[in-house]
Amino acid sequence: MKAARPRKATVPGAADAGLLTAARAVRRHAHAPYSRFAVGAAVRDEHGRVHVGCNVENASYGLTICAERNAVAAAVAAGARAVRAVAVVTPTRPPGSPCGACRQVLAELGNARTLVLLAGPTGAAETTTLGALLPRAFALRPRA
Ligand code: THU
Repeated sequence: MKAARPRKATVPGAADAGLLTAARAVRRHAHAPYSRFAVGAAVRDEHGRVHVGCNVENASYGLTICAERNAVAAAVAAGARAVRAVAVVTPTRPPGSPCGACRQVLAELGNARTLVLLAGPTGAAETTTLGALLPRAFALRPRA
């Protein structure tokens, strides 16, 4: 299936620029010896705090954990209960976007309006929303 391209970036606000910087910084800690595809993610919670994660690969490949899911786990461990924005940085241009599993995990703490910034190692981010990336996310009590 061909994915819809996210909208091009508008100039991000200072908070969004900080989120992007955090995602770029943590990308350097990625453990990606098998794919050599280092990913960094940063989420902003309901208090404005930033939590980061990078991908952690495993010799048993299927045990790999994506950057976004590690960032969400770090946020929850720090007491966060909502994700207002997420920045994801990949080595590619145009930038990659979260895999299906990570979209659903982001939806657990986010909502359709959650801001998603996608970027390469340098340059401006593309902006989209979680609702655009994952319409009708699974929920135990679906909203009408
Ligand atoms: N990866 C992420 O960290 N996030 C995604 O949304 C997709 C893929 C990682 C997993 C693996 O370590 C590498 O990128 C290549 O698939």
